Amino acid sequence: MKIISLLAFAISGVGVFPKVLAHPHRTTRPDHVVKFRRNQSVDDMTESPTLVQLYDQAHEAVQYEVWKHDQTTACTSEKLVFRREYGSLTRQEKLDYINAVKCLQTLPARTPANVSSGARSRFDDFIVTHIQQTLSIHFTGNFQPWHRWFVYQYEKALRDECGYTGYQPYWDWPKYASAPQDSPMFDGSETSIGGNGNYIPHDGAVIVPPPGTGGINISLPSGLGGGFVTTGAFAHMQVNLGPVVPLQDGTPTGPEFGLGYNPRGLKRDLGPLANTRFANYTTVLDLLQKPDIDCYRYLLDGTPWEPEIGPHGGIHYTIGGDPGGDLFTGPGDPAFYLHHSMMDRMWSTWQALGGFGGNRFTNFGTGNYSHVTWGNFPPSDFTKLTDKIDMGYAAPSTTIDKVMSTVSEEFCYFYF
Ligand SMILES: *[C@@H]1O[C@H](CO)[C@@H](O)[C@H](O)[C@H]1NC(C)=O
Ligand SMILES: *[C@@H]1O[C@H](CO)[C@@H](O)[C@H](O)[C@H]1NC(C)=O
Ligand SMILES: *[C@@H]1O[C@H](CO)[C@@H](O)[C@H](O)[C@H]1NC(C)=O
Ligand SMILES: *[C@@H]1O[C@H](CO)[C@@H](O)[C@H](O)[C@H]1NC(C)=O
Ligand SMILES: *[C@@H]1O[C@H](CO)[C@@H](O)[C@H](O)[C@H]1NC(C)=O
Repeated sequence: MKIISLLAFAISGVGVFPKVLAHPHRTTRPDHVVKFRRNQSVDDMTESPTLVQLYDQAHEAVQYEVWKHDQTTACTSEKLVFRREYGSLTRQEKLDYINAVKCLQTLPARTPANVSSGARSRFDDFIVTHIQQTLSIHFTGNFQPWHRWFVYQYEKALRDECGYTGYQPYWDWPKYASAPQDSPMFDGSETSIGGNGNYIPHDGAVIVPPPGTGGINISLPSGLGGGFVTTGAFAHMQVNLGPVVPLQDGTPTGPEFGLGYNPRGLKRDLGPLANTRFANYTTVLDLLQKPDIDCYRYLLDGTPWEPEIGPHGGIHYTIGGDPGGDLFTGPGDPAFYLHHSMMDRMWSTWQALGGFGGNRFTNFGTGNYSHVTWGNFPPSDFTKLTDKIDMGYAAPSTTIDKVMSTVSEEFCYFYF
């Protein structure tokens, strides 16, 4: 018999939890947050008690779920592990993580040269897989399941192939929104995953929508870098692949649709503007309170080719530079995995808040992000639980139904 707090029962049953979701279509904020609206920057840049409460509730729900699992499934309370916020890791834990990523960058690629002549390492195998499938794994029903499996397999490679004993840390987007370049992730110290790019004067990126989509040009704010990363653990890191659609002015595309060899230095363009505007505390609170997956996805990803790009794109463009600013080659910047770990933290938290056994573990909605083509363009079938998640040469493939919960099948993790 496991010890479990009464609070957990209350939350999983009929206590605090249903109150939070009692008004699933609520569009206004809870009272004590509304008070702050008089000064929007305080509201958006401060973690509200409501948000803390939601994280706690999700946490308790997960612990109750794995407690129920005991003796019947693989994911028991004893086995449950936690991914943590990068800044909360000890100095040694950060160095261990960094060294494991560097190790992955030195192991030989498994991708054959006739598939990608530019892939030089195990780190690159993951980039190849992402480049090849970019158009069928974004703004699609499989987006979140695919990236959950992708990040998990990357974490597994760090552990199994590079002796890492920790788990994939995450980037808590709003926590450092007013100065991400000074956060523990990017401050340029030896425990950062590399500093910002050196400052070079440049314009913000413009997203130009493809012909036929009816979208407008989206001008993004520029960051405080734009040049090469020359400080921190990944100073002077060599990028081999991409870019396919470089955003920063003057960056040429790489050969062979990004799969050819294109050695160059890592660039970043971190700064507060996109982070503050698209991924602040209000964004995260709103996201976790979305009543269904369609609403959730429209905030997370924005509407295609419209300026409200949401926190997913907002943080990719906060990293910016090359290859971070390229949707295709994004995993070529180690920061990608911290961002997508937070993406998964959001999704798994939102799932837990809906209750285990509920439709947040099975349903992809009916909106344009629930199909197998990019924003349902051209119109296509709905994503199904039995659809394959293809990892190419990076890792084993699976099916979507196997990855819908972080505490079942092969998974047994949550976020701290
Ligand atoms: C809002 O809060 C910020 C940060 O505390 C402060 O600098 C600013 O002056 C405030 N603005 C108003 C209108 O109160
Ligand atoms: C790559 O080469 C191997 C044999 O060397 C072959 O089996 C495979 O089909 C080739 N792949 C492509 C995409 O050409
Ligand atoms: C969008 O940007 C592209 C590339 O800079 C430019 O050619 C085009 O005229 C712009 N479209 C509009 C509507 O501003
Ligand atoms: C916070 O994010 C929301 C979108 O989620 C945005 O509407 C708001 O303007 C942002 N706040 C600031 C201060 O930029
Ligand atoms: C959804 O996709 C269809 C088919 O591509 C398109 O006609 C429609 O305008 C899209 N709806 C929205 C809200 O984007």
